[in-house]
Order: sequence, then structure tokens, then C-alpha cells
Amino acid sequence: MDPVRNPYSPGAGRKPAALVGRDKALKAWATSIERTRIGRTDQPVILYGLRGVGKTVLLSEFRRNAAKRDWIVAQIEAGAGKTLRELVGEALYAPLADIARASAGKRLLKAIKTALSFKASYDTNGIWSFGLDLDGTPGGGADTGILDTDLKKLIHDLAEAAEEEGVGLAILIDEAQDLDPAELITLCTVAHAAAQDNWAVLFGFAGLPSLPRILAEAKSYAERFEYFKIEQIEEDVVSEALSIPAAQEDATWDDEAIELVVAASGRYPYFLQQFGQETWNVASGPNIRAAEAQLGILQGYNQLDNGFFRARWDRATPAEQAYLRAMAPDGDAGSSSGEVAGRMNKKPKSLGPTRANLISKGLVYAPEHGVVAFTVPGMADFIGRQIDP
Ligand SMILES: Nc1ncnc2c1ncn2[C@@H]1O[C@H](COP(=O)(O)OP(=O)(O)O)[C@@H](O)[C@H]1O
Ligand SMILES: [Mg+2]
Repeated sequence: MDPVRNPYSPGAGRKPAALVGRDKALKAWATSIERTRIGRTDQPVILYGLRGVGKTVLLSEFRRNAAKRDWIVAQIEAGAGKTLRELVGEALYAPLADIARASAGKRLLKAIKTALSFKASYDTNGIWSFGLDLDGTPGGGADTGILDTDLKKLIHDLAEAAEEEGVGLAILIDEAQDLDPAELITLCTVAHAAAQDNWAVLFGFAGLPSLPRILAEAKSYAERFEYFKIEQIEEDVVSEALSIPAAQEDATWDDEAIELVVAASGRYPYFLQQFGQETWNVASGPNIRAAEAQLGILQGYNQLDNGFFRARWDRATPAEQAYLRAMAPDGDAGSSSGEVAGRMNKKPKSLGPTRANLISKGLVYAPEHGVVAFTVPGMADFIGRQIDP
């Protein structure tokens, strides 16, 4: 069928035509937004899971939900060598520019002045002004250089400004496991202070399955945050991830064709999108048949091997690839570090740096101490398909 009209969307963070099976997390976020409106706050919402399950897409849906209500929203992705200070500061520029106006209320002007001082704390060259004269306005002071103090002041003043505007503030942080531990502690502290004093702010974090443990280690009260494990799509709705996008383009799937793609995908969103896309492209009519699905799945595997999996595999050095190979026999379940070392005839301790590098590259994570697992579902099988060097 016409590839131009292909409704499937494999790719990191790409909005699916049908966002299926995430009602619980979406509802929790919507409820938190409503509660903020009546002056109640909620604990941060944490989305955690493997790569390709749809965390970023969900976090972006949180953003859209808040933005629809004219909230002040900052969505950032941790990592890439930027500090939390820079990331938060830069993400606030556009939303603040949107609401900055000379007729703004006292609190908004104050928050803007505070945001300007926050900006000055990491960037002395680029100065924002928003065309406002803030000389007589209180605020500022978010430039002590102590992240805890500065971020708390910034979030506090912004939340008050949001309240004055009749909205709220949402801070959304993707790949949160990549934040520096000190930054995570700061965020937990600020979120905790906000929840205690009913500031009009909501936090949403997304990250790998190790995120809950990392948060708990950062601050014990992180245990009170609201956690959602994002996984494969539930069996009872998974077919909708294929049928709804097709229906929007006046196409249908035979039951058997859907079953084949669902089975091949293991119900993982990324794989559903990839196989869906390929099947669409090979299908001839408006009704997709099983034989076409079979071909689509084959081509989908090919695409995944050359893209999704390959991109990650190529990021590992030969020594790291050897480590990943030694993990592969355990499949997606995870391996004991000791056992991996045994298979490589090495001492576990000597492999510590390799393991640490693989974690910092986001290729593996530690579900618990002494255990490592792939961050990508199906990685073990992919490695099995590679020819030994
Ligand atoms: N609930 C869902 N239903 C259908 N497809 C989804 C869903 N969530 C995500 N996807 C698709 O899965 C892929 C991965 O989504 P992404 O949010 O990047 O995952 P993650 O951030 O967990 O790695 C994208 O192609 C996206 O379109
Ligand atoms: Mg993501």
C-alpha cells in the first residue's frame, strides 16, 4: 500500500497513531493536573521500563495534556553532557517567552526575574530580557551556584506565577537515570518540598528499569513517588496498535495477520510499529493478509537488525561486545556478573570497568546488585544472530 500514507511510526519518541494500553498512567497524570487546579499537589510520576516500550511517547503525552491547559511546561532529556541547570534553564525559555508580557501579574514578573538570574548562573553571555523592565520587581537570586538553593527558588517562584495565571508548572525529565546522582538528590528534595507545601508543580520522570532503585538510593522519600512500570502492551488491547492506525487510513487487517505480527513483536511497541510499517508497505490491498504479514515481519527484522539493534551494538567496543556476548545465553532475563565473568574466564572485578561503561552507554542496566540485563528487549537474540568475530 501507499508508503506515503503508512500510519506506523517506528522510531525513538515518535508519536504513534494510536497510543494503546497506557490508560492507567495517563489517568494518573490527568488526575494530578486536576488536583493541582484545586490546590492539591501530587508526588512525582515515574515511568520506567526497557527501551522501545513507549516511555518518551507517554512523557510527551503528559506534556501535551499540561500544555493544552496552558501550563508552563519544561520537557528535558538528561545526558549528552549537559548539566541539569542548563537543561532546565534552556527548556524554560520558550514557555516563559510565550507568557512574558508587561501587564503580567506580580508573581509572574518575579518568577521571570528569578528565571533570568538562574540563566545567568550558567551562562553569562546569553542574556534573556523578554523585553521587560524588571528593575522594581522582586525576585532573582537563583544564582548562588548551589543547585539545591537555586533550583528550589526557581521552581517555587515559577509555581507561584503559574498559580497566579490559574495554571500549573510541569517539569518532565526523560532518561532520568542519566542525571548525575547529586542532581537527582536535588530534584527529589525540590519535589519533596513542593509536595509538602502544595506548590502548583508536577514532576514526571522517565527512565530505564534501574530508575526506581537509583531514586530510592538518592533519597528515601522517593519511595513515595508514583511509579508506573511501562512494559509490553496488554494482550487484550494490543491488536488496536495495528488496527486503529489502519482503520484511520481505511485499511483492515485479517485476524491471522494481526496475530502473526503481535506474536513476532512480543507485544513491544517499537516492534509492533516496525512490523506494522513493513507489512503495510508490502501489502497490496486495503485488507492486509497473513502472507503479507509474514513478509513484513521478515523485512521488519531486517530493519531492526540494521538499525535499532545495530546502532547499539556498534556503540560497544570489542571488549564490551565480548561482555555482551557472554550475557546473551541468559536471554533478556539478565545475568549474574559473576557468571558472565566465569564464561569469559576473567575475574569479576577486572570486568568492572567494562560493565560500568556498558551501563553508562545505556546498553545494559543493573536490575539489582550483581546482576546485569540488556536495556533493549530482544538484544540477546540479535547477538545470537551475529557471526562470531
Ligand atoms: N502505547 C503505544 N502504542 C503503540 N505504539 C507505541 C506506544 N508507545 C510507544 N509506541 C511506539 O513505540 C516506539 C518507541 O517509543 P518510545 O517512546 O521512544 O519508547 P522509549 O522511550 O520507552 O524507548 C515508537 O515507535 C512509538 O511510536
Ligand atoms: Mg525514550
